[in-house]
Amino acid sequence: MPVYPPEPFRIKMVESIRLINQPQRELALEVAGYNIFNLRAEDIYIDLLTDSGTGAMSQEQWAAMIQGDESYAGARSFYRLQRAIKDIFGFQFFVPTHQGRAAESILCALTLEKGKFVPSNMHFDTTSANISIRGAVPINLITDEAKDPSVVLPFKGNLDIDKLRQFIQSTGPENIPLGMITITNNAGGGQPVSMENLRQVSEVYHEFGIPFFIDACRFAENAYFIKLREPGYTNKSTLEISREMFALADGCTMSAKKDAIVNIGGFLCMNNESMYKQACNELILREGFPTYGGLAGRDLDAIAIGLYDGLDETYLAYQLGQTAYLAGKLKEADIPLVEPPGGHAVYIDAGRFLSHIPPAQFPGQALSIELFRQGGIRACEIGSVMFAVPDPQTGIIQHPALELVRLALPRRVYTQAHLDYVANITAQIAVDKNRLPGYRLTYAPEFLRHFTAKFDKV
Ligand SMILES: Cc1ncc(COP(=O)(O)O)c(C=O)c1O
Repeated sequence: MPVYPPEPFRIKMVESIRLINQPQRELALEVAGYNIFNLRAEDIYIDLLTDSGTGAMSQEQWAAMIQGDESYAGARSFYRLQRAIKDIFGFQFFVPTHQGRAAESILCALTLEKGKFVPSNMHFDTTSANISIRGAVPINLITDEAKDPSVVLPFKGNLDIDKLRQFIQSTGPENIPLGMITITNNAGGGQPVSMENLRQVSEVYHEFGIPFFIDACRFAENAYFIKLREPGYTNKSTLEISREMFALADGCTMSAKKDAIVNIGGFLCMNNESMYKQACNELILREGFPTYGGLAGRDLDAIAIGLYDGLDETYLAYQLGQTAYLAGKLKEADIPLVEPPGGHAVYIDAGRFLSHIPPAQFPGQALSIELFRQGGIRACEIGSVMFAVPDPQTGIIQHPALELVRLALPRRVYTQAHLDYVANITAQIAVDKNRLPGYRLTYAPEFLRHFTAKFDKV
């Protein structure tokens, strides 16, 4: 029996949610062009679309926001955030950005040009798009075992070191101006990366003179997984583990909307001073003055506190425990999942669950539509809608290895009864799953199509 971890907080403020009836849900889907991103949030009962920016802030974060310094330049809020970032991440320089993708965009503008390559374990969609839009190529070098959802490994987010070395040697390090890794690996099931792997990745990139940047959105969850699963780290704090992880890199991109538990914000860190100066110029052009980036002073303060909230081990045990609980309930109902459950989300293997729907008809999309149709639940497709791309040479569509539906858990938001409801609706869908239709695209933009695409039933 899955065990639910009692919340390490009590509830001080509530936000009402409502379940609209089935005909209303059918109509809402039709109006949305069967894209759950187009639904109105007030029509959702349980919203597991993303853990990004959807967390509940602590009283300490709200209190800090009241003290936000809204000076255009040199605000106290900036220096408070600088202190926190230096303490945890240790990099020499940082610029605040309005969210993670803005940090990625600036990093890519500074490092990439047409025909270059950027390896990683797996780039997230915004990172891939930011690399591609510069004419460079994102390369995913996850281990082969990680592509099998049923394989249980402690660090399924690890980058395959042999593949990395081979890739660098065959491509030429001069064509790789940037090397990355994503912790935890969101696109591959929220899986962590071990410290040993981070160390090896760092060594290989540095051996070839390639700057190493970490996509750090879920660094605190990754650190806690290291504490739980990697020999030698049991007695280290998540703060110490985080410092050790970032000491291996030359910089990081961060969406603070995840492990800093804020509704908006991000930053880009680096050690290289000339890169920092260029980043400031880019920032002024796109985001704002270097001491506020794209944010208000109060947002900077919320991040400064939230970074420590996110590292709190009692909170992390609860957050990872919630994910494990939901995964356990779904497994009881024989729903195929990516194993083991990730930190911020449970990933349903929709390709296997709806094996009668081929990747070209988007099994993940079909399941996420059904979760809303039957239960008012919103989840996110992470499969062919998000990642299928035409081969640059042949034009033939290449589908990703996995067709997933991600049930992301907003931090400190939903309770055990909500998770039980989600598990029950999914089990109800399973009873008649072979009758679910596939979908076809009726509209799709060139980049990041999942946000605005429209669909119809096949
Ligand atoms: C691993 C990863 N990298 C980058 C991003 C982009 O961050 P943002 O949504 O703040 O732009 C996300 C967001 O979901 C993510 O999960």
